Amino acid sequence: MTLKTSLLCLILASSASANDVIKDVMKKCFKPEDAVAKKVGKGEASDSEISALIAACQKICAETPSRGDKAEWVKKCQAMVNALKKVQAKDSSGSSEFKKAVNCKACHDVFKGK
Ligand code: HEC
Repeated sequence: MTLKTSLLCLILASSASANDVIKDVMKKCFKPEDAVAKKVGKGEASDSEISALIAACQKICAETPSRGDKAEWVKKCQAMVNALKKVQAKDSSGSSEFKKAVNCKACHDVFKGK
């Protein structure tokens, strides 16, 4: 199961086009119990999973959410990417920074449509 979810996230991150990119990334990289986003917070993600999540966050960064300000959206996504790059570089502040940046509710309250 762990392998399957992270694999889906990997495939998604590398696929050239997807229709509902934000939804897809949420469902494959953020939501599942063993989602890569959750594993990173626990310090359990492999290097390839971290790279996949960086790619996935960069993808959604380029999208426009159905609600909220695009510039703020880019800032939020960029904060996740920056924190993930620290995690990738084994910088110990990366994981707590990522946990802050990945706050589901804080982002949904502003950007998620009904
Ligand atoms: C950077 C902002 C951001 C963060 C952080 C974020 N989300 Fe989301 N999420 C969104 C947006 C925007 C949507 C709405 C996408 C749409 O409807 O197009 C969404 C939608 C979803 C959906 C619905 C997908 C669907 O099928 O419609 C789920 C489930 C979800 N998020 C889970 C999570 C979880 C769990 C976390 C925290 C671990 C999280 N998200 C963190 C922005 C975010």
